Amino acid sequence: MEPKLLLSQLATDTLQGLSSNPKYLLSKYFYDDEGSRIFQDIMNMPEYYLTDCEHEIFSLQTEEITKAICPENKLFNMVELGSGDGLKTRILLKYLVEKAINFQYTPIDISAKANHELVQSLKTELPALQVEAKTGDYFQKLKNLNGHASIQKIILFLGSNIGNFSDEETTKFLNQLSAYSNVGDKVLIGFDLKKSPAIIMDAYNDPHGHTRRFNLNHLVRLNRELDADFNLQKFEQQTTYNPQSGEVKSFLISNGEQTVQIGALEKEFVFEKWEAVFMERSRKYDFQTIDKLALNHGFKVVQNFTDSRNYFVDSLWEKIT
Ligand code: AVJ
Repeated sequence: MEPKLLLSQLATDTLQGLSSNPKYLLSKYFYDDEGSRIFQDIMNMPEYYLTDCEHEIFSLQTEEITKAICPENKLFNMVELGSGDGLKTRILLKYLVEKAINFQYTPIDISAKANHELVQSLKTELPALQVEAKTGDYFQKLKNLNGHASIQKIILFLGSNIGNFSDEETTKFLNQLSAYSNVGDKVLIGFDLKKSPAIIMDAYNDPHGHTRRFNLNHLVRLNRELDADFNLQKFEQQTTYNPQSGEVKSFLISNGEQTVQIGALEKEFVFEKWEAVFMERSRKYDFQTIDKLALNHGFKVVQNFTDSRNYFVDSLWEKIT
């Protein structure tokens, strides 16, 4: 009998992904400390328009967004999924606090470190803000919030994080979001829009080498955490964009036949010459698809906040059924 291994989630997911044909790794594992730093470098590239667009939306349309999310000026809870450093949200928070609007802010993130830093900096910057961060799984935490209140929620899911999901994962995510919302609750979701493929490729096809580092860091993480022996020289990074599906896909491609040992799995994996590992999807949307997504999950689109170039939208939905 094979010895039984007690595997972490990372180990289980890696085993599944590298045993599949075609191979894949899950993009949620990009964000260890180094991966989060590299993502900051990506966000700081002039070609990575997404952050600038959403920043512009929050800066120039703060008043409109405020009117749309709290029309009756009743107490509400602003819940943010995957808050990270909360850079864009901060603009809105500052405005709401200045206007003495009655609300509380509940950032939910899987990173305890990110949450701690966010709360500390908000305490200094906006001492009047009522903030209570939750660390853990989005839906576990949302479920708990729903348990103890009829207080209206406005749930933020920004940055086009939804773009990482497959169709199946999007459906699952929106079903859960719907299940943990009450009629009248609102959600504000950031979607990156379809646009000229040249602009998209500039943002994702690695003008400064950060995307390559970002992808290779996943292998570095497996080397460290799962005792693997990936040789980084033996992988090339490649990005594609399909203008029909709207999917940007990132791959690591083995530039020769090779065998990689993963100690924690007590297994070895063969990579054929030019075999590709699917690393990440960053989906681009159109308004029709966004409308459909809302309606299929018990929401209606209340208002779309776009940037001046129409590259990006923060779409505000209301739960109607
Ligand atoms: C954090 C998922 C929004 O898909 O644009 C950027 C991650 N990957 N460049 C995105 C990412 C490569 C990013 N999201």
